Amino acid sequence: MSTAISQTAYNYKVVRQFAVMTVIWGVIGMALGVFIASQLVWPELNLGMEWTSFGRLRPLHTNAVIFAFGGCALMATSLYVVQRTSQVRLISDSLAAFVFWGWQLVIVLAVITLPMGYTSSKEYAELEWPIDVLLGIVWIAYALVFFGTIVKRKTKHIYVGNWFFGAFILVTALLHIVNSAAVPVSLFKSYSAYAGATDAMIQWWYGHNAVGFFLTTGFLGMMYYFVPKQSERPIYSYRLSIVHFWALITLYIWAGPHHLHYTALPDWAQSLGMAMSIILLAPSWGGMINGMMTLSGAWHKLRTDPILRFLVVSLAFYGMSTFEGPMMAIKTVNALSHYTDWTIGHVHSGALGWVAMISIGALYHMLPKVYGRQQMHSVALINVHFWLATIGTVLYIASMWVNGITQGLMWRAVNEDGTLTYSFVEALEASHPGYVVRMIGGAVFVTGMLLMAYNTYRTIRAAKASEYEAAAQIPVGVAH
Ligand code: HEM
Ligand code: HEM
Repeated sequence: MSTAISQTAYNYKVVRQFAVMTVIWGVIGMALGVFIASQLVWPELNLGMEWTSFGRLRPLHTNAVIFAFGGCALMATSLYVVQRTSQVRLISDSLAAFVFWGWQLVIVLAVITLPMGYTSSKEYAELEWPIDVLLGIVWIAYALVFFGTIVKRKTKHIYVGNWFFGAFILVTALLHIVNSAAVPVSLFKSYSAYAGATDAMIQWWYGHNAVGFFLTTGFLGMMYYFVPKQSERPIYSYRLSIVHFWALITLYIWAGPHHLHYTALPDWAQSLGMAMSIILLAPSWGGMINGMMTLSGAWHKLRTDPILRFLVVSLAFYGMSTFEGPMMAIKTVNALSHYTDWTIGHVHSGALGWVAMISIGALYHMLPKVYGRQQMHSVALINVHFWLATIGTVLYIASMWVNGITQGLMWRAVNEDGTLTYSFVEALEASHPGYVVRMIGGAVFVTGMLLMAYNTYRTIRAAKASEYEAAAQIPVGVAH
């Protein structure tokens, strides 16, 4: 591409790369989820080797779905949205390429080291220090590309979606750097810079804000662009988006201690975390309502548009999980839910219902655009995917609610003489049917992802390089 063309065109190459990898890592990470779910049904599937044991594959699943699938989805969409809403090309093609290849390298290193048992043992921050350093460098490069593009924007204001993406990028950097501070003792082993209750507090300040900024704020950025675009309606309330943005980022930072109820953490910190979590319901629902109400006057489109259905149902799950979360943060409720499958159900109503569904909807909108096609190869397949994803998610979370409440009640049941009514194994036996249903739900969800992979492959195969280069031209004076 000549220099003249490249200056008047968006950099869609990096967007295409991240979008394709989102689909691939989505299939791999979720298939791994089904595998570990099957291990909980049939323990023989641990295969008698440490590399394939549940304990090692579980963090591989969480890293693959959150950072590989979710991360690629966020990078693909943020780099697409920031260019289109700023009406300029990314500041640097080589830096963008570095972000793409660097991020894939981090993921590949995770795929190698986690099954080998190299771990810092901090949940969602398991990677050992050399990979942490690489991740930090790649992330800073990503921040430079994103904010640099905003700085040289041709539009007057910064679109609200970019505020959310920006907060996600800044806070993730802060969380990663603070929580990963460690003293290396060898190339593969380090010890946390913090000790005892302080270490736990820092870890869950990180953990909860990984949820708040990685799995929520970034995806809200996605929501603010793709819901209005796909429904062809302006966002319901710009004012609400600003108010709930500031409220969300101010409150999330304080809610971490709800992961440490009834632990050595000072009681006042637990109560503060609980209070902040309850208040968090308001800005969370502010975002959900703003997204939903954008469809005012366009609800009929849901009948014919499966992409819009993905986006709207994801908002419904977002609303549901952000209602459930504050309830679980109440100490008396947490006394029942903590350590049980209820938490796992809550996680996946957010992860499958919200994070995966909004990403899938956004990708179905964006993929044809960056490949210069009118639409995906098959809209009928998107519709089938929508139903598989919805049914899969419902099976997953309903089975985990039943399991969680059963476990919580069985663990706390005591006889008149004070002895426990049920042994742990009895509670485990009672959970078995739920594990089977969860596994089936997961398999249904993954089937949908395989259809998406096929649909993506056919869409790309039909695309011609000259057409998608032409589609990347920056229109003059058109706000989008
Ligand atoms: C087909 C889809 C999926 C299946 C079958 C699945 C299955 C599982 C299983 C079996 C566990 C371990 C539960 C336990 O320890 O008892 C788990 C944990 C987890 N999964 Fe998934 N998963 C899927 C998709 C996802 C996605 C898309 C995300 C995120 C975007 C995600 C995020 C997580 C997280 C964060 C945990 C750890 C939860 C905790 O520690 O409380 N999963 N998953
Ligand atoms: C207002 C919003 C939310 C609040 C107040 C909240 C609150 C909670 C609470 C109280 C727990 C259980 C902690 C425990 O007993 O160990 C939890 C766990 C979790 N939540 Fe949420 N939640 C919210 C939204 C979400 C969303 C939208 C997602 C995903 C996209 C999510 C992902 C998770 C994960 C991954 C865990 C498990 C952490 C772990 O133990 O490994 N949460 N949340």
